Amino acid sequence: MHAVGIVAAAGSGLRLGAEIPKALVPLDGRPLVVWAVESLRAGGVAEVVVAVPAPQRAAFVAVLPADVHVVVGGDTRTASVRAALAAAREHADAVLVHDAARPLTPPAVVARVLAALAAGARAVVPVLPVVDTTVVVDADGVVTADVPRSPLRRVQTPQGFDRATLVEAYGRAHGTAAEFTDDASVVRAAGIPVHTVAGDERAAKITVAHDLALAELQVARAQA
Ligand code: CTP
Ligand code: MG
Repeated sequence: MHAVGIVAAAGSGLRLGAEIPKALVPLDGRPLVVWAVESLRAGGVAEVVVAVPAPQRAAFVAVLPADVHVVVGGDTRTASVRAALAAAREHADAVLVHDAARPLTPPAVVARVLAALAAGARAVVPVLPVVDTTVVVDADGVVTADVPRSPLRRVQTPQGFDRATLVEAYGRAHGTAAEFTDDASVVRAAGIPVHTVAGDERAAKITVAHDLALAELQVARAQA
């Protein structure tokens, strides 16, 4: 199986609030996007395409390994992945789509996704259980219902797909009003079953400043 990796790195990182795009923010001195590319490679993905914000294209090219293919992303994550998918080589039979914002994803998670694809899944996502009590509230913030949490899962990346399946699903989604926050929902909207493998807490997404502080601690602990 030949897998190509796509790293979505074209967001601005509004919630993190740094002066530079989130994917360029350093973790232990290296930009988040570099960590994300390395974790895909360590997990068995040889070829990587990265979607970046147009104004900072040169800054991304300067920090990424020379053999990484850099494309300009879009206004939404879906548009960014679509642009990278168009640049992914056709000889690949599998695609793994990863967030630059998940720099410490263990290679074992990548390997589990690849193994599920090799075993015949057309779409697979790493997931974790929901650990907090989960409720529904009304417009005033008053709890209206408890949500049974045992069937709930938190979805991480990288998400793996049969390449032709992902390309077709993105083709169908084009021009529809639907908003997608990940790639598995694009594929599921096309009626394809999405399988799951175990995710990992260390693959947490860096969204706010607290997440970056935790990631720094994680790296320091691993080096101690
Ligand atoms: N992403 C992207 N293109 C966009 C928006 C997001 O490639 N137009 C990427 C981000 O770079 C990130 C991943 O999708 O690696 C997950 O998105 P998120 O964590 O929401 O990052 P941002 O959109 O950058 O952050 P924010 O929503 O806080 O602005
Ligand atoms: Mg965002």
